[in-house]
Amino acid sequence: MNTAQFISKSTHKVIEKASFTWQTPSNIALVKYWGKSNPQLPKNASISFTLNNCHTITTIDFERKSAVDKTVAFDLFFEGKQKATFKPKIAVFFERIATYCSYIFEYKMTINSENSFPHSSGIASSASGLSAIAMCLMSLEATLNPELSSVFINKKASFLARLGSGSASRSIEGPLVVWGAHPKIEGSSDLFGVQFPYKVHSVFENYQDAILLVDKGEKQVSSTMGHNLMHEHPYAENRFQQANNNLLKIADILQNGDIKAFINLVESEALTLHAMMLTSNPYFILMKPNTLEIINRIWEYRTENNSAICFTLDAGANVHVLYPEKEKLAVNQFIENQLSKYCQKNQYICDTVGFGAKRL
Ligand code: DP6
Repeated sequence: MNTAQFISKSTHKVIEKASFTWQTPSNIALVKYWGKSNPQLPKNASISFTLNNCHTITTIDFERKSAVDKTVAFDLFFEGKQKATFKPKIAVFFERIATYCSYIFEYKMTINSENSFPHSSGIASSASGLSAIAMCLMSLEATLNPELSSVFINKKASFLARLGSGSASRSIEGPLVVWGAHPKIEGSSDLFGVQFPYKVHSVFENYQDAILLVDKGEKQVSSTMGHNLMHEHPYAENRFQQANNNLLKIADILQNGDIKAFINLVESEALTLHAMMLTSNPYFILMKPNTLEIINRIWEYRTENNSAICFTLDAGANVHVLYPEKEKLAVNQFIENQLSKYCQKNQYICDTVGFGAKRL
């Protein structure tokens, strides 16, 4: 595996101070990543829609140290306040990327971050959070080495983000990103995410995702723990195979616009992810009664209205409701009138497919 291409040059310009701000999105997987090996390599390929409204905005101020040492110096502020609890995860991230970004030893970094979605909404913030830091680092690297191409910058940003959180590798570009080497997806890699390389049918343009906040509490199972459960899992190998087959199928579906097949595959992926947790040891039920209520209402609505609405799930109780743009008005009304009552404090977030990281 060619990771050497990502090692930063040891000689570069000297810059005393710099500051970069990036907005990077969350993403929702259609074929799920669940199971990994070291260092952050996926057991199967996955694909996600990049989101638009759910994002993180991060600024990193870099100040050159008076003497370069072998420590990574950083302060971390979340929504204006110092955040000691987030620091260990970011410290591990810096340790993992140090080989590839040795310039981080030369700077004191002050990281300021905020999310567009409510804190502890149950929406995974690691994808948007880590991809934003990765983009800020790549802006510094590109300033130190101005010859870097924009293609390389995005590729390395995804590579770095992956080392912080696997799904973060899919939060640099949009609207559809594949992560994980797959024989039928040109250019795909376990090391970084790539834009879905084929022409996507117009029905999937501006696809809608309403995130119904069923349970806003802390995650019952951290993603690291969840992925680890796949090591001893009796169905793991079949699952990895199935996910790769599903990726092959969805690659065709996205091109031919077969919405029925899309619904079937996406919902099956969501339920399979939860089935993996139901059948692991220890075992977990991450859905709540209201998750099931919502799923049943979605199925009824789909039949009664000949709609293309469907759902997917993360490793939690919240429901992502997916639907084509042309159904936006009707489905938004359905959500407001019939589904919002199953959400905590009636809260849900209307999002749409987006195009990736933006420099602010
Ligand atoms: C269920 O990317 O959060 O959302 O690599 O340990 O940070 P780490 O895991 P993470 O796992 C996401 C799992 C998922 C499915 C997916 O996004 O593909």
